[in-house]
Amino acid sequence: MQLATSQLKIEPMGPVLGARVHGLDLSKPYGEEQKRELREAFARYLVLCVPGQDLEYDDQVRFAAVFGKADEKKLSPDEKGQGKARERGVMYVTNIRENGKQVGSLPDGEMQFHSDGSHRDIPYRATTLWAIHVPSRGGETKFANLYTAYDTLPEATKRRIEGKQCKFIYQVDATFREQTREDDPSLSNAVHPLVKVHPDTGRKSLYLSRLMTRYIIGMDRAESEVLLNELFDHAEKPEFVYAHPWKPKDIVIWDNRCTNHARNDFPASEVRQLRRITVSEPGDMSKGGGY
Ligand code: OGA
Ligand code: MN
Repeated sequence: MQLATSQLKIEPMGPVLGARVHGLDLSKPYGEEQKRELREAFARYLVLCVPGQDLEYDDQVRFAAVFGKADEKKLSPDEKGQGKARERGVMYVTNIRENGKQVGSLPDGEMQFHSDGSHRDIPYRATTLWAIHVPSRGGETKFANLYTAYDTLPEATKRRIEGKQCKFIYQVDATFREQTREDDPSLSNAVHPLVKVHPDTGRKSLYLSRLMTRYIIGMDRAESEVLLNELFDHAEKPEFVYAHPWKPKDIVIWDNRCTNHARNDFPASEVRQLRRITVSEPGDMSKGGGY
């Protein structure tokens, strides 16, 4: 039965961005009213966390699909079994190793600020992570509000960056800017405006990140480097950042169009495992579900 009035309770996670959503069991059906409220809260808070959720893979796909095109892994009929086989091809962010070999993506330690898919022509609209194992300390995901970063720039800087575009490059094993071998032509790359207008809110935000933005197109490289570093430092100011302390069974979704995220270091001796499903633009027919 569909609820006529929604029971959702939206609790802000702090002054920067983010809200916790209570009153939803994402393993059960939910109706259009709940979906509309989720989308409204998402536009307003940029990052949502629904705590205490027991989610199968399909439940997470259903949640991701509330916000756009869920990048579901297509499993062959013989993979649609039970248990482990059912999970083949599903993306985990984890430091778990089997026989010394990594079994997941983005395995260890600290990771600099970035926005998922900014190295693609059509970046991911959003990303969902569902926490399975979290370390006893560290491993928080930090989220930076790029609307506020733009709004608080000096007017002269706003004028200086207006109409500028940047080159974005991503090397899958890089967690720090210096590790990217920029001259490698095989690396995935794209060009995007430095200032973007969010299609749902109409608000302007900065669009750049320390991990993936290499240079401003048409600007002297040294000058670009100085300006980008100023902008990175500005966009990462603690007053624009919320650090999410994960609990098992949290599901979090963030908007890659107006936030950056980074990860704090955590003890390599402890297990961290999250299941990851991205949300693509509905018109994006390229293969989603990567980084
Ligand atoms: C990601 C990501 C950060 C984290 O999944 O895209 O950057 O905290 N994860 O694991
Ligand atoms: Mn990421």
